[in-house]
Amino acid sequence: TTVEWEAESYDMGGHDTYMHKEIHEQVDAVDRVLRGRIDDRFSTVRLGGLNLDAREARGVRRVKILGCGSAYHTGLIGAQLIEELARIPADAEPASEFRYRNPVVDPDTLYIAVSQSGETYDTLAAVQELKRKGARVLGVVNVVGSAIARETDGGVYVHAGPEVCVVSTKCFTNTAVAFALLALHLGRIRDLSVADGKRIIAGLRKLPEQIAEVLGGEEEIKKLAAEYANAKSMMFVGRVRGYPVAREASLKLKEVSYVHAEAYPASELKHGPLALIEPEVPTVAVLPDDDLLEKNRATLEEIKARSGRILAVAHREQEKADHTIVVPRNEVELDPILMGIPLQLLAYHTALALGRDIDKPRNLAKSVTVE
Ligand code: AGP
Repeated sequence: TTVEWEAESYDMGGHDTYMHKEIHEQVDAVDRVLRGRIDDRFSTVRLGGLNLDAREARGVRRVKILGCGSAYHTGLIGAQLIEELARIPADAEPASEFRYRNPVVDPDTLYIAVSQSGETYDTLAAVQELKRKGARVLGVVNVVGSAIARETDGGVYVHAGPEVCVVSTKCFTNTAVAFALLALHLGRIRDLSVADGKRIIAGLRKLPEQIAEVLGGEEEIKKLAAEYANAKSMMFVGRVRGYPVAREASLKLKEVSYVHAEAYPASELKHGPLALIEPEVPTVAVLPDDDLLEKNRATLEEIKARSGRILAVAHREQEKADHTIVVPRNEVELDPILMGIPLQLLAYHTALALGRDIDKPRNLAKSVTVE
């Protein structure tokens, strides 16, 4: 499918910042990444530009995803989706690190480069190094015809539309959805059942409406941001599906509001970072209603016992938390996609409350085209 970016103008459309505009564009953006790709007859997804036939897809033994910053974080979500839905061992790594450690390039591994701009130097150089060593590299890219899109063997366009704000929001979400599509596609070629395929498709179709619901809670999140804006530092925790969301939310808060933030798997807290917890260091806990919820609640108790304040993002009110942002339920595999969205608003309103230059945070550039 070809998507006309002209349809979406660069003007502010009544928003004060591009970040706010782009957060609110996510309802349409997610609709666009799904458009024309769902195949109900076979409960799968068609990805025109993938360039990987069914026989080749069955031969993939591992998936390695490479990207930088937010792109790397969507790679963490993507790796989990591919492992869960396609049962192929998958992981993600910062593209810059990968390139410098003289990696073993394996012919049965499918490499995937992730990038909004398609021009990030470290990601592009990793692609070129992999290609030089004979690997198959796909791209999950937003900008059509960009350097990474051209250098890869095929891939999935993210169709988020132009992202102007230095801080990535709609592209992050759309990339995660693109990974869900790829994981479903690979899963249905391999061992994912028709019933599971249908279940994930129904979940994907619900996303735009559920994103609108989350965005409808903006006033509430604005009040919470005012409450937490003066924190000395913020701790973000999650486990398994919640962890990449915590990583991304921590980066978002840092880059736009300059509030120091750390992200840890909730299970790692007791191995050190718990020493930081005090009333001036609140914790944002990402708590999907999955099989880890009880363990996550035990972590909340540990934080409370150290007088830590807690803001939970969950599917239902958490009595151990001081505040809960309740997000709608989808299928467990797709939870990270929705749970990241209120935390984009939290970062935005924190930055606004602190009077930051939201669209152009200090020291940062939209695409990093140098080493
Ligand atoms: C995200 O908010 C960033 N400013 C940054 O981490 C970005 O995701 C990274 O530089 C990668 O950019 P790309 O997706 O264009 O490759």
